[in-house]
Amino acid sequence: MRWFPRISNIRRSLADEPANLASPEFKANPFPFYARLRDEAPVHRMTLATKESAWLVTRYDDVAMVLKDERFAKDIANAMTPEQLRRLPWFRKLFPSLRRNLVNLDPPDHTRLRALAQKVFTPRLMEQRRVRVERLTEELLDRVERRGTMDLVRDYALPLPTTIIAEILGVPVEDRNRFHRWSNAVLSAGASPGRLWKGIPNAWALTRYIRTSLETRRAQPRDDLISAFIQVEEGGAVLSESELVAMVLLLLVAGHETTVNLIGNGMLALLEHPEQFEKLRNDPSLIKPAVEEFLRYTSPVEIAPERFAREDVSVAGVTIPRGGLVFAVIASANRDARQFSEPDTLDITRDPNRHLSFGLGPHFCLGAPLARLEAQIAIVTLLRRLPNLRLKLRPDRLPWRRGLLLRGIESLPVSFGARVKGHEPINTAAC
Ligand code: HEM
Repeated sequence: MRWFPRISNIRRSLADEPANLASPEFKANPFPFYARLRDEAPVHRMTLATKESAWLVTRYDDVAMVLKDERFAKDIANAMTPEQLRRLPWFRKLFPSLRRNLVNLDPPDHTRLRALAQKVFTPRLMEQRRVRVERLTEELLDRVERRGTMDLVRDYALPLPTTIIAEILGVPVEDRNRFHRWSNAVLSAGASPGRLWKGIPNAWALTRYIRTSLETRRAQPRDDLISAFIQVEEGGAVLSESELVAMVLLLLVAGHETTVNLIGNGMLALLEHPEQFEKLRNDPSLIKPAVEEFLRYTSPVEIAPERFAREDVSVAGVTIPRGGLVFAVIASANRDARQFSEPDTLDITRDPNRHLSFGLGPHFCLGAPLARLEAQIAIVTLLRRLPNLRLKLRPDRLPWRRGLLLRGIESLPVSFGARVKGHEPINTAAC
């Protein structure tokens, strides 16, 4: 039996289709390809670098539907036939216990885990971090201010959310480079078969690290989230050992790998649009709509984590067969002219701005209030302290992180030495 039945009413490939959606080259500017998909093939089947087939859904309304619709399961076991499950590629059978996290589960397990998570990971807890985030942004800038240059990602956008999520969970902040290295390797595993192999020891290291942190907190509970998760109980429900590991791992990874992209990509977008930079620098009260626009325009999570069709489902006239791997392409929905006027224009005052960057429905991002808080403070502080910020490299020379789901700049060298009148666009000839 074929893994997926033959579908006659879809186009299998487009001319000039990118070879690898997870490559840095594609990440730099995926938007023209997604615009073509929205116009020519809004549900499009592609072969991924891992050799799996996936359906990309690219129009705003369809993406919103896929994110909410229960006909798309998160847990592969709730969608595939026993035969399809037997034929799964080897890497899908690794780390089964780690898949028992919120993002990969359906009701009733998802409902139970989400209620437990919401009990301890509350908007109030995140708001309580405001002063700490403010202090940390100042400290990070104190360290670089005299230098006149910095890597805005490595010196600022990355240490900020990494430190905050480590402190909230209760893992040592001095370990942040280690756990970021492991999580980065795991997240880029989908970029090639070689990286899949490389991801395995890193996933082991990350899991071992979380297990040790749990043991430490069991012996010595503290006022942190790991201790709270060990003790939490809601309506008689508690977290099993593997659910605990998966929950802490998800929060540690999602808690920094996404927000770094929001701050880094958002600042790159501002630096590429000097008039918008100027507007925000002159009126910092615009920071809330500005961050919403960075979420829309740059899509730090480019593609929502996978879903699988529980039955044959028709989307935009195309039948996605039972068991089909479906990707809701958030970055495409966020640039859909059917929803947004002038979607390729960065407008920090855009209103309304119903972007899908935090998802929709039962899996809506649990950390959205924290991500917004961190990005708003980080960007406003940066513009206040370093108003003369300029790019040191031409945008087309900047390195992008590889990986299928996230979209983020890896390094963003900037200078802010000499005072200039107003904010001048970069002199590309000097790069
Ligand atoms: C710019 C920052 C962020 C973006 C763009 C983002 C985006 C998303 C998206 C699109 C989803 C939905 C996934 C789906 O439907 O398959 C999601 C879920 C989730 N996010 Fe975030 N996220 C961000 C920051 C964070 C932070 C800071 C945390 C934690 C500290 C976090 C924790 C989670 C969790 C636990 C889920 C799973 C919720 C569930 O399945 O019930 N995220 N996020």
